Amino acid sequence: MPVSALMNVMIRTARKAGRSLARDFGEVENLQVSIKGPSNFVTAADHRAEEIIFAELARARPGYGFVMEERGVVEGPDKSHRWIVDPLDGTTNFLHGIPHFAISIALERDGELVAGVVYNPAMAELYTAERGKGSFLNDRRLRVAARSRIEDYVVVTGIPHRGRDGSDIFLRECRVIMAQVAGIRRTGSAALDLAWVAAGRLDGYWERGLHCWDLAAGIVLVREAGGFVTDLDGRQDMLEKGSVIAGNESVTSDLRKLIRKSQ
Ligand code: IPD
Repeated sequence: MPVSALMNVMIRTARKAGRSLARDFGEVENLQVSIKGPSNFVTAADHRAEEIIFAELARARPGYGFVMEERGVVEGPDKSHRWIVDPLDGTTNFLHGIPHFAISIALERDGELVAGVVYNPAMAELYTAERGKGSFLNDRRLRVAARSRIEDYVVVTGIPHRGRDGSDIFLRECRVIMAQVAGIRRTGSAALDLAWVAAGRLDGYWERGLHCWDLAAGIVLVREAGGFVTDLDGRQDMLEKGSVIAGNESVTSDLRKLIRKSQ
């Protein structure tokens, strides 16, 4: 499948930032033994990757706006387009030397998500999707899993950690969902959770308390792999509310019912 000019820009950018993160990840593994720990270094790695992404995208598409995890909102003269970027999703994994983290880049046009790239440089997995053109892992076309019996689902979620609200709600949801499904996973990267749902590795995903940059690119991946993505109320306000349910039609409908039941 020929790659569009837009996708070329996004892939080139993700790969360039990915080389920087991969170099820094190698260092983090060495720093694990130091007493001070590598957390300052990881913050610097995050910033370095964001700088690269900002410079590449601004050069390729001057005028587009940005929402970036570190830099925040950067308005551009072109009000129809904005990039939604997380330079390092899965920061805790990165910090601990776990090779499950990603760069997430999405493009929104007139309020609609039209393209997404999620790249895990440590595993050489590049997920790409453009509206109407399908979802891919490297060169392989993706399709969400077809399972339709709750007892077969393996679903993924995020667990609120220290300093985050929502542990009571999370525990209630978890109790109801874990009693029905085959298994629950927590991987530590929302962008890759969505990418793995698109790839059919995981049947479903739900989480609250996210930011738009954790979700935007992965939403395009799941939709283009034939899946569904909603917020926890079944609406399309995922980016505003920071909540998400993803999977095929039965999985998303079952998860929504179980979450409602848990409240
Ligand atoms: C985090 C990851 C994680 C999710 C957290 C996010 P970050 O993003 O996506 O899976 O559970 O809620 O904050 O901080 O690594 O960019």
